[in-house]
Amino acid sequence: MVQHLKHAYIAGTGYYVPKKVLTNKDLEKIVDTSDEWITTRTGIKERRIAAREETTSVIGAKAAKQALKAAGIKADELDLIITATITPDMPFPATSALIQNIIGACKAGVVDIEAACSGYIYAISMANQFIRTGEYKNILIVASEILSRITDWEDRNTCVLFGDAAGAAVIRESQSKSEIIAAYLGGDGAYKDLLYLPGGGSLNPVSKATIDKRLHYIKMKGNETFKVAVTQMSLSAEKVLEKAGMTKKDVSLLVPHQANLRIIQAVQKRLELPDDKVYINVNRYGNTSAATIAVAIAEAVQEGKVKKGDIILFVAFGGGFTWASALIRW
Ligand code: COA
Repeated sequence: MVQHLKHAYIAGTGYYVPKKVLTNKDLEKIVDTSDEWITTRTGIKERRIAAREETTSVIGAKAAKQALKAAGIKADELDLIITATITPDMPFPATSALIQNIIGACKAGVVDIEAACSGYIYAISMANQFIRTGEYKNILIVASEILSRITDWEDRNTCVLFGDAAGAAVIRESQSKSEIIAAYLGGDGAYKDLLYLPGGGSLNPVSKATIDKRLHYIKMKGNETFKVAVTQMSLSAEKVLEKAGMTKKDVSLLVPHQANLRIIQAVQKRLELPDDKVYINVNRYGNTSAATIAVAIAEAVQEGKVKKGDIILFVAFGGGFTWASALIRW
């Protein structure tokens, strides 16, 4: 059976970031913080904030159109759309259905996945399975977040960290050496209370009380989250390399989840990678959850930092906790 499996590759990428820039200096006017504190603790200098008329599906569709163009296929050739988001336009229908409608992907199945900041890699892994078995030929994955609408702008512990953005990729059957080599997915729900949004679901349905208690905003224990993030991102990177029979020396470019520069640097150190083998944009966009890696790889491609044959390592970590990694031969 195994010899009949096909290979999947990333045929095109795209991204979109809203125009409005919110700098650390701007935040100094909103909460008791400073540019110096935010920069030294996180590496973030600014983030993007969506305009009121922009929703997760609207910005996701913009990234999707770019990815389709880069892949050289039309929306009606898509078999499936998988959207990774923790900020859907609404609980249902799936944001994928809304994106399908905007881009005109009339033959595609539509589903969303919720793996927080690891969602883009989870989507890649799932798309990979459908292509490898021959079930589908063209899959669009979108990672789109408008975190500014679930951010508590009165909580300085969290509001300095997040931003809005969307990235997308088209995954297709490969006819060359380009391929998704391996992926590793993990998580541990025992950490559910370290990073979460408690209100609005079946546990705490929306009520005046949930709103008064600000349960509709992100809650995070930053310090504990930081430690698990460093450990699990490093382990996830090692696990996917081992799965692929490769070593850290084979990595051409690490594209990590962009939550905090210090987390990225700790993972970089563990993998013994020089600065020019690590893609960083957390300074410009902050943490955009599922969208970070999707945007970063699309930017890296547009900047000419990715060459055919390069080995790209994605590694992410997020609420759940979830963690994930993927190795791509470009
Ligand atoms: N401005 C100024 N001071 C702030 C602040 C802000 N925006 N946010 C928190 N502080 C204060 C705290 O109140 C605390 O003050 P205290 O000592 O008087 O109580 C102090 O800074 C230290 O807080 P602490 O939480 O220990 O700081 P830290 O070094 O852990 O950095 C984070 C905080 C959030 C930047 C860091 O923990 C982090 O990045 N964690 C991981 C977050 C993350 O990546 N989450 C997403 C994962 S996908």
